[in-house]
Amino acid sequence: MDSNSGNSLYQSAQSDRLAFWADQARALHWHRPFTKTLDWSNAPFATWFEDGQINASYNALDRHVIEGRGNRIALLFEGEPGDTQTYTYQELLAETKKAANALLGLGIQSGDRVAIYMPMIPETVIAILAVARIGAVHSVVFGGFSSDSLRSRINDAQAKLVITADGGFRKGKAYGLKEAVDHALADESCPSIENVLVVQRTKQDVLMTSKDIWWHDALAKADHEHIAVGFDAEHPLFILYTSGTTGKPKGILHTTGGYLTGVSYTHKNVFDLKAETDVYWCTADVGWITGHSYVVYGPLTNGATQVIYEGTPDSPSFERWWQIIAKYKVSIFYTAPTAIRTFMKIGREIVDGHDLSSLRVLGSVGEPINPEAWHWYREVVGGGRCEIVDTWWQTETGSIMISPIPGAFKTKPGSAQRPLPGITVGIVDENGVPVKTTPKGSEAGYLTIDEPWPSMLRGVWGDPERFKETYWDRFPGKYFAGDGARFDEDGDIWLLGRIDDVIKVSGHRLSTAEIESALVEHRWVAEAAVVGAKDEITEQAVVAFVILRQDALDDAPGEANIAKILRSWVSEKIGAIARPRQIMVVAELPKTRSGKIMRRLLKDVAEGRPVGDVTTLADSSVMKAIDAKLHSGATD
Ligand code: WT7
Repeated sequence: MDSNSGNSLYQSAQSDRLAFWADQARALHWHRPFTKTLDWSNAPFATWFEDGQINASYNALDRHVIEGRGNRIALLFEGEPGDTQTYTYQELLAETKKAANALLGLGIQSGDRVAIYMPMIPETVIAILAVARIGAVHSVVFGGFSSDSLRSRINDAQAKLVITADGGFRKGKAYGLKEAVDHALADESCPSIENVLVVQRTKQDVLMTSKDIWWHDALAKADHEHIAVGFDAEHPLFILYTSGTTGKPKGILHTTGGYLTGVSYTHKNVFDLKAETDVYWCTADVGWITGHSYVVYGPLTNGATQVIYEGTPDSPSFERWWQIIAKYKVSIFYTAPTAIRTFMKIGREIVDGHDLSSLRVLGSVGEPINPEAWHWYREVVGGGRCEIVDTWWQTETGSIMISPIPGAFKTKPGSAQRPLPGITVGIVDENGVPVKTTPKGSEAGYLTIDEPWPSMLRGVWGDPERFKETYWDRFPGKYFAGDGARFDEDGDIWLLGRIDDVIKVSGHRLSTAEIESALVEHRWVAEAAVVGAKDEITEQAVVAFVILRQDALDDAPGEANIAKILRSWVSEKIGAIARPRQIMVVAELPKTRSGKIMRRLLKDVAEGRPVGDVTTLADSSVMKAIDAKLHSGATD
């Protein structure tokens, strides 16, 4: 973007914030235009564009076809085995219409919840848009999550249908998804589910029961025409579960008009999208918010051409991503710092052999990007000529909140810098008082968002109290993000990581409490404490400390094996991303006199630091014992 248009966005947002947002919303197609912008009278429950009506699928598809962009490529799909498929907007619309009719045929109605448990393939995008098209509410569950995690999400949302696939391809092999669905539904454990729609991807054998229907059969029978109607702007669009500070993931609810406004505005401006010429690629899986906002809704409402890739960066070799960028001439690339650090460690040769001259804008998301990784991204991947946008946001914020805008000002390695036009943030101390800034910057404090924004979460599914308590009670009137931050001498924002019990592993969000509950579900485990320990590649890694039950000590297969078995247990219970890097069996956990586990001390141990102040411990010898054990090498 030339600096003028970036700057004019800041100016117009500053002169009239609500008029600015109304303008952004009007860039979408409204079945019925809105007249009201924001109602904050029932804070923290906001409504945006309340009297308008809109259809998300229409904005992602029909609109482009109607306005003459039907032959533009929407998806360039690269399967892991090397198979490819291309969908124009016209073709994607045709499939989505059939899928919408198939859903209606299965009795899915506006407001019903549909779980989607899929690999990264075009049908996943089609399924999402088909659900949205008929006003149903999707709940995408990342395909790497376990059947237990899928079951609890299905039950919490009371989903009527699951859309899944026989499996997908990963690291050179086919893995199964349908069998995990079967397992989740076994023994009537998800009574709300009426049907399972199964996409054939890998052609592996799957068990089809009377409630299971092949996607291709259902679409073959479905009517080709489907007219999208408008839904109220505040009609629920999706639920996406994310980890919080308790053992139970929360269903973050996003609604239609405000969410679409946020994602299309940010996708266009943060990435400086030129939809006619750019080829965009975001490496996130649709199972995460990044996939929802910057693979599905943002790029498609903006009429972008994008790559989607099924597999991991290392399959068949670490050349794969760079081959894909060169092959499709990707110009905007969006990925996580973890991936950059992995490639840094391997060495630049793996990147250097490819023609990446098409790249223009590079995005980063999920965790702070350290300056070394930022420079490497810019020089080695971006050839020193690309803009880097370090984008801070969350599942709850729906769209990017803090990020540079290309060309608007000079970027700075390691800092996400400034709130986007239309977004107001602050940094406060314990008491909610804005941190003092001096010419040298500020102290670290808590990041808050100080005014409502269109794509903000509208609640926690089924738990309005939790929504208020978690986000709004700590600093009344402000949204509490859960991150620490500080201002530097230029007033730029540096994100300092989570200050709660949420940890980030390779950009994925996990809850220490959730992993602890999974551990204590095992019959050997009496107590567990989990911390996020610093990791060179993944930013944080899961380290668990467990106390065994006496009976386990009698029949368990030795400590090293126990640790191994418990690590696999966690992946079975939650998913492979939650598998602890290390499990230490300990005799006791460090607790305060009031019985609270002192994770700070465990973190010291896990990160190999001398253990800090133990004076508040009920029994100060506990840490000595743990430390001694660590140094004797008796760990996992
Ligand atoms: C948490 C939200 C938003 C998409 C992916 C993650 C951390 C995210 C950055 C960044 C520093 C970041 C924060 C935030 N985070 N982006 N650019 N710099 N930290 O979504 O899983 O909801 O996690 O990710 O800690 O709170 P999420």
